Amino acid sequence: MSDGLLGGMSAREFLRRYWQKRPLLVRGALPGFRGVASRERLLALAARADVESRLVRRRGARWSVAHGPFARAVLPRDSTLLVQGVNLHLAAADRLLRAFSFLPQARLDDVMVSWAARGGGVGPHFDSYDVFLLQGTGRRVWRLQRPRRWQLVEGAPLKLIEGFEPDEEILAEPGDLLYLPPGWGHDGVALEECVTCSVGLRAPQGEELASAFLDFLHDRGLPRGTYRDPGLRPARRSGEIPRALADHAARTLRRIRWRRGDVENFLGVYLTTPKVQVVFARPSRPLARAAFARRLRRTPVALDRRTLMLTLGARLFCNGETYPASRALRALADRRRALVPAAPADLLYGWYLAGYLQLERDP
Ligand code: SIN
Ligand code: CO
Repeated sequence: MSDGLLGGMSAREFLRRYWQKRPLLVRGALPGFRGVASRERLLALAARADVESRLVRRRGARWSVAHGPFARAVLPRDSTLLVQGVNLHLAAADRLLRAFSFLPQARLDDVMVSWAARGGGVGPHFDSYDVFLLQGTGRRVWRLQRPRRWQLVEGAPLKLIEGFEPDEEILAEPGDLLYLPPGWGHDGVALEECVTCSVGLRAPQGEELASAFLDFLHDRGLPRGTYRDPGLRPARRSGEIPRALADHAARTLRRIRWRRGDVENFLGVYLTTPKVQVVFARPSRPLARAAFARRLRRTPVALDRRTLMLTLGARLFCNGETYPASRALRALADRRRALVPAAPADLLYGWYLAGYLQLERDP
């Protein structure tokens, strides 16, 4: 991590004093930072079907939102182009995300890059996750309001706070970092053409977790068995559900059980499952297995920027699959680039062929 990212403050102090408590502005956090992509690169990403992008426009009090891909994205006055998941495509954006390695990777989501024309912005809103806003080129004024029970503007095409009354105003210049905890109202308006990179945190909501867990239980296998009623008597009230059928349903559903281990396995799989649009690039001329195993002994491996690898206790999760964790694999998950001669060569060879990792070049 760049020493200046938190303005000389240690990660421990930042977490204790600011994390999920209050905003922090760090002037010159990344000196010389101009964003992670030129306007052309950003427009090229916004033209791709496998990249999530939005164009937000404001005309007076009227807002509109269009969703990409944008064949020829032209940026009209007072508009903002937002491109999500830029870290999956550009090495510079991945490096920016990894600069926040003092946070657990399980909590990092993605780097969103916005390109705003003068006067552009997405309006006063709040996010339900923490965000680090890094100002690239241009200046942007941020107006902030502390969390409260927000009212949203009815009928607006995007989430806008009704009656936004900022209690603080900040001018962000290139290289500045603004940290915002969840729930803070904020409105960023570009003073001139400007680029802002948002490092967004991931915080699964209860409903989202529960619904994914129910899918996981479904995939694992649900109770079988058909209801039979050989002793059925003539119905006195044919509209009534038989008590025996209700008992059967209760007994069957009670058989859906899970242990803490199932929850942990689910969580690892859930957090490491790549987004649907992610495609890994397989090596065009892969090494043979024996040559790979030889190289592995002396060459570090680096996880592909799209790879999600996490560990929990004795388990390792890689791109939605579960494996036994070992010391070498834990080092790889933590550092994402490591010399791991002791790692199981066959497993790594499979990941190499799938494009999940690469061998670094020989020195
Ligand atoms: C932006 O970059 O325009 C918006 C980022 C945010 O408000 O979260
Ligand atoms: Co926001």
